[in-house]
Amino acid sequence: MRYDPPPYPARLARLREGMTQKDALLILHPKNIRYLTGFTGGDGALMAGPDWLVLLVDGRYVTQAQEEAIGTEIFEFRNRVDGITAVACGRSVEAIGFESPCLCVEEYLRLQEKLPTVALRPLSGALQSLRAVKTEGEIDRIRAAAVIAGEALAAIREMIRPGVREQEIAIELEYRMRRGGAEQAAFETIVAAGANAALPHATPGSRVIKTGDCVTIDYGAVSGGYHSDETCTYIVGHASDRQKEVYRLVREAHDRVIGAIRAGISCGAVDRIARGCLEEAGLGAHFAHGTGHGVGLDVHEAPRLAAGREEILRAGMVVTVEPGVYLPGLWGIRIEDTVVVREEGCEVLTQTSKDLTIL
Ligand code: GLY
Ligand code: MN
Ligand code: MN
Repeated sequence: MRYDPPPYPARLARLREGMTQKDALLILHPKNIRYLTGFTGGDGALMAGPDWLVLLVDGRYVTQAQEEAIGTEIFEFRNRVDGITAVACGRSVEAIGFESPCLCVEEYLRLQEKLPTVALRPLSGALQSLRAVKTEGEIDRIRAAAVIAGEALAAIREMIRPGVREQEIAIELEYRMRRGGAEQAAFETIVAAGANAALPHATPGSRVIKTGDCVTIDYGAVSGGYHSDETCTYIVGHASDRQKEVYRLVREAHDRVIGAIRAGISCGAVDRIARGCLEEAGLGAHFAHGTGHGVGLDVHEAPRLAAGREEILRAGMVVTVEPGVYLPGLWGIRIEDTVVVREEGCEVLTQTSKDLTIL
């Protein structure tokens, strides 16, 4: 695995572009704080001026912050708004750009009250485009997560047979990922059989697998803070002609997208490829979600591969490709891989074969 030199100074420099002496940025999303400092705690605030940086944490996190956010000034607060106020006053800040999706109305109103002369300016996606392009070190972590996840699925695949409950498979898969070195599952593992497979985000329950079921397994691991995301759909015992045909079409949509992804294509164009493929077969109405999303410190992050999104894919972005067809009350098929965008194509990081597999 390649470990980058500490990436924080370069990231902070990008973030600070265009700041004036009296400006500050207030970063509140824990993953963004991690991205900028290395601090992995679940709570806190990061304030950045043009030439200063303060990580504000409560007493639970002081030692951890000192150990992880090396070289960053740590400010301990009892109350987050009071801490932000003290830092802003101490630095004579006149304007704060804050991460508006992460500040609740109550905290915002209290900040306004405490800092009446400071302009509070919402920043919605301050870091998302920065985070979207990964270094090779970040890509290595996603690849490692994908390997752990794929090996865990291979180890439990024989469990996918008639009589076994969805929940049992999900629990075993998560256990194997943890045993294999995952810090945690990337999200609540989905194991959906039969009609449940027609729910794109089903929760594994007590449903017992039956012959003829589609079983959708959507799973991922976290390694070094980075996520993988992969979906395999298996058919148990015997596949009907319709299931085989729909599998072939979803696979074709998936493969065409993977064949088209490269630096310079737009997210909307990628989505149109998958959607067009399923629409030609009369299945467009049954593909009711986007074609993919960015993956990194969060399992869902920028960019979104969806209709109308004209952002351009850049080399180093890591995205999923996950077309699906869902037939309510019957079954569903989704195929998902996580890929890195390269100049001349893309590299698939997830490991498991997507050939039609009847177990
Ligand atoms: N596992 C969530 C997703 O595929 O987006
Ligand atoms: Mn997924
Ligand atoms: Mn996904």
